Amino acid sequence: MMNVLVIGTGYVGLVAAAGFAEAGHKVLGVDSDAAKIDKIRRGISPIYEPGLDEMLSRHQASGTLSFSLDIKDGIAQADAAFICVGTPQSEDGSADLQYVLAVAAGIGEAMALRSPDAKPLIVVDKSTVPVGTAARVRATIAARTDRAFEVVSNPEFLREGCAIDDFILPDRVVVGCRTDHAEAIMKGLYGPFLEKSKGQWLRMDPPSAELTKYAANAMLALRISFINEIAGLCEKVGADVDYVKVGIGSDHRIGKYFLNPGPGFGGSCFPKDLQALLKVGRENAHPLRALEATVEANRHQKQVLSMKVKKFYGCDPATPSPLAGRKFALWGLAFKAHTDDIREAMALELIEGLTALGATLVVHDFEAMDNVRAKVGDKVTYAPDPMAACEGADALLIATEWPAYASADLEKVASLLKAKVMFDGRNLFRPETMAAAGWNYHSIGRPTVSPA
Ligand SMILES: NC(=O)c1ccc[n+]([C@@H]2O[C@H](COP(=O)([O-])OP(=O)(O)OC[C@H]3O[C@@H](n4cnc5c(N)ncnc54)[C@H](O)[C@@H]3O)[C@@H](O)[C@H]2O)c1
Repeated sequence: MMNVLVIGTGYVGLVAAAGFAEAGHKVLGVDSDAAKIDKIRRGISPIYEPGLDEMLSRHQASGTLSFSLDIKDGIAQADAAFICVGTPQSEDGSADLQYVLAVAAGIGEAMALRSPDAKPLIVVDKSTVPVGTAARVRATIAARTDRAFEVVSNPEFLREGCAIDDFILPDRVVVGCRTDHAEAIMKGLYGPFLEKSKGQWLRMDPPSAELTKYAANAMLALRISFINEIAGLCEKVGADVDYVKVGIGSDHRIGKYFLNPGPGFGGSCFPKDLQALLKVGRENAHPLRALEATVEANRHQKQVLSMKVKKFYGCDPATPSPLAGRKFALWGLAFKAHTDDIREAMALELIEGLTALGATLVVHDFEAMDNVRAKVGDKVTYAPDPMAACEGADALLIATEWPAYASADLEKVASLLKAKVMFDGRNLFRPETMAAAGWNYHSIGRPTVSPA
């Protein structure tokens, strides 16, 4: 059993804290947001992540997991301190390290509480940070203490929506460290997870670990932009991307994952991480041209669904908007299914774009309604369920792939809408089935169909 300090209890930190508690370690989660800590202490997760509420309650009740506003409550006993605070995008595209370095300074100051003969504290950069950050964190702490510590880079690869499983059953754990002591502590924490998942332990130097995280996200984003561009071409040449993606994905050198066309990538990671990596490339006189194209393709892709809507209703900048007075149902607000995260979500662009043209929107999501309400207020109407959103709407727009949308009763949907018109940004249905059922159906990279 080890003592673990987790600083920053957002999507990554809260899951890490619960995960290490699940493995039997004694964990203190720390956040500077008092309202968040208060909520978590009452067993309520401030984020939606399946299974998290239950783990928070269970481990807090057993005493393995506790929360505080102050790292001083846990620094003296800690074997490892994980930095899990945000690294948002700065104005110039780079990762804003102010929160990471503020935590490092706080650790440095609190180190005086540790015994002079305590084993070195393993300070773990888990936030996604550019190459060289481990060195900056080390310098920031060293300027404030003479107690022993080592900074380790341990990027996180969890996906929102299945974060707990990803954390406790990882494909691989990447650890950038320079000493065997640091490796032993990290192995003690992750070893049991890797035994179960049969995942790989990958020790490397800290800069390589830092770059691995950005390179992984860049690769995944590149695949998304690639298939979206192929989908756009499919529409032009009369091909169907559903067949093309299986055709290429069945080649084992390519693989089938991350080849689903859609509204472009969003969320809290890919957009900012790509910008940060591009910035690192520019700073090192090594432009990353494929990534520049990925970002550009994604910028275009985010407009594709609203362009389809505008084309269908005959929008023309030179004439009054034909969308004025029209009402649309919008299913899905989160940037992807199984999360409440709306950062860089396509739904927000749809809301802005279509309301600016005079349309009204009635929106639904299974988890992200509160976050959207906090952001856009009464710009849209919030429906209690998917069907209620459709009542009297001119068309249905789909922006998030929640499984319950894919299994919705489309006859009922049709009976509630004014017209059987659907703009499906997630390709939840097959065009020929929709045509046979009398729909005017628009999707991504497949033929647009209308009733025979
Ligand atoms: N969300 C993901 O899916 C994901 C996946 C992998 C990596 N990451 C990376 O992990 C990092 C955290 O991401 P997140 O989505 O969990 O962020 P988040 O915004 O959900 O959470 C960050 C938390 O840090 C807290 N915080 C900020 N400053 C603090 C301080 N000085 N002391 C204590 N707490 C402080 C905030 O109050 C907040 O609760 C980022 O670098 C991100 O890129 C995120």
